Order: sequence, then structure tokens, then C-alpha cells
Amino acid sequence: MPAVATDLVEEILDLKKRRNAVILAHNYQVGEIQDLADYVGDSLGLSFKAAETDADVIAFCGVHFMGETAKILSPSKKVVIPDMDAGCSLSDSCPPEKLAAFLAEHQEKHYYVIAYINCSAGVKALADCICTSGNAMKIVEAAPTDRPILFVPDQNLGAWVMEKTGRKMDLWQGNCYVHVDFTRASIARIREEHPQARVVAHPECTFAVRLLADEVCSTEKMVTYCRDTPADSFIVVTESGMLHRLQKEVPGKIFIPGPTDRCACNDCRYMKLNTLEKLRDALDFLEPEILIPEDIRTKAEQSVRRMLDLSR
Ligand code: 13P
Ligand code: SF4
Repeated sequence: MPAVATDLVEEILDLKKRRNAVILAHNYQVGEIQDLADYVGDSLGLSFKAAETDADVIAFCGVHFMGETAKILSPSKKVVIPDMDAGCSLSDSCPPEKLAAFLAEHQEKHYYVIAYINCSAGVKALADCICTSGNAMKIVEAAPTDRPILFVPDQNLGAWVMEKTGRKMDLWQGNCYVHVDFTRASIARIREEHPQARVVAHPECTFAVRLLADEVCSTEKMVTYCRDTPADSFIVVTESGMLHRLQKEVPGKIFIPGPTDRCACNDCRYMKLNTLEKLRDALDFLEPEILIPEDIRTKAEQSVRRMLDLSR
């Protein structure tokens, strides 16, 4: 690592100690952030860590809804994120006002609302239960059978869970701009170039891409799948940050980023807004800070805790 980055890392670790902070990072963060984090994982693992920590400050390196989830679960902690503009196209596709209006319009249906964790605190407050890509099947299977399910905001993940569980659901028409960029043609092409490689894809990908995959799973399960599967190479159809975690934790195997029709791999522009410099400043100035109106937070906490209880 260059001297400047080494100094910066030392500064961050020193600030972390002084603030009694914990650094949580999602699998899509750049390698240098993953390398100094206390915990790196998927949305489910990060939620458990945020709920359990005894640190005073949570520095969350991910996107805004992930920081919000940490605050929902640990309201007495200060939760800071490196960049307030680190949003999520999927979360944006389901504004709470639109969901509230839809539910009011379809009151007679008495929907059981399952919200994928990639949504705002306002949407979590309207949901009955939250799920992640790591526990979606379990959560849908535990839903009351006498009520129709409305699944928000990801239509692709929702469709995948329907296929897996056989439970019919009404799907909100949202998606992740990163994952819908992988196409059947782009993945078929890379598969032809590497016929021995296994294809592992995130469930936010479209049906056409999922059909080409040997395994569809959350980012955390990608690590165990690649470790435990007797194959030497894997085509990883998700955001590019995942490759760092895989190369580090599953040494000796080859990881090929899933391409799109435009480029050899795919970045989430929101995840990549976070840098070591911004993380240092967040720990130094204790901002930008995640704040949620208490009435929304308490309602959102019920649906997030229901998910955690069902996932243990
Ligand atoms: P995971 O929970 O599988 O890490 O996914 C989070 C995400 O944002 C995928 O785009
Ligand atoms: Fe949101 Fe997609 Fe980025 Fe994940 S990869 S944070 S779903 S925009």
C-alpha cells in the first residue's frame, strides 16, 4: 500500500479507537475499505452486527438504507456514513408516499407487506416484515397464508422467491440498475469463453440471467458457495466489489466478473462514492449522521426485528 494510504489507514484506526467506533462495510465496498473494516458482509450479516455492537459510533460503509437499518436497530448509537449521496436506485423506486397511497387504494386486500431491506426507513415502517437476499425464502414461507403478499421494491428478487417457494405474491415494479444491466447475451458470451467456470448470480438479476446461473444467492452465500464447490473458476454476476472479498477469502480460485453489454464488470455508483478520505472525515467530524424521526424508526424497528427473529 502506498505511504499516503498507509498514513490514512493509521489515522482512521486511531480515530476509530478514540471514538469507540465500529466500522461495518458491505461486500461491494472498495478493497481498501473492506480491508480495514471490523466486519464485511451482506445486508443480513451487517444488520445483526449493527444490532449487537457495544461501540458508541457505527461508521457504516455501504449505502444510505444500510446506515438507516443500523440506526433503526441501534438508536442510541451515532451512525455515520462516508457520503450522504450514497443512495440506491432500488430503494428510490419505492418512495414511502407511493407505497402508502397504493396500500390505501387497495385496503380491501389487507396485504401482508414484505419489504426487501433495500428500501427507506419510511417503507420499512409501512412493512409487516423485512427480508434480505439471504433470508427471503424463510421470510416468505413464514408469512400468514390467509393474506395476499405484496413484495416491495425488487421485482426480480420477488420473482425468484416466488419460483423458489411457490407462493404467489404481488410485486412492486422496482429494480437495481446495476443488476438489470447484466443481460442474457453478456453472460452467455462470458460463459462460452470460460466453459469450465460456474456462474453465480445475485437474485436482483433478471430471470433471463438467473436461468444461466449455476447458483443464485446473496453476496455472503457467494463466499461459501465458491469455497465449497469443487470448481476452480467462477463467473460472478454482481457488483464488482464482491471480487475483492472472494479473492481474499477463497485463495487459489479464479474469479471472473460478470460483464454487461457495455463493460467488463459492473460498479454500483452509489457504493463507490465511499472513499478512505470520506471515512476518515466521518469519524473525525461525526457526520454525515443518519437521523430518523422516532415515530418512523419505532415502526420500522418492528418489521426489521421480526426479520431478525425469523432468521436466527
Ligand atoms: P446482499 O444483501 O446480498 O449483500 O445485497 C445487497 C445489495 O445491495 C445487492 O445489490
Ligand atoms: Fe442499490 Fe443496486 Fe447499488 Fe445494491 S447495487 S446498493 S441494489 S443500486
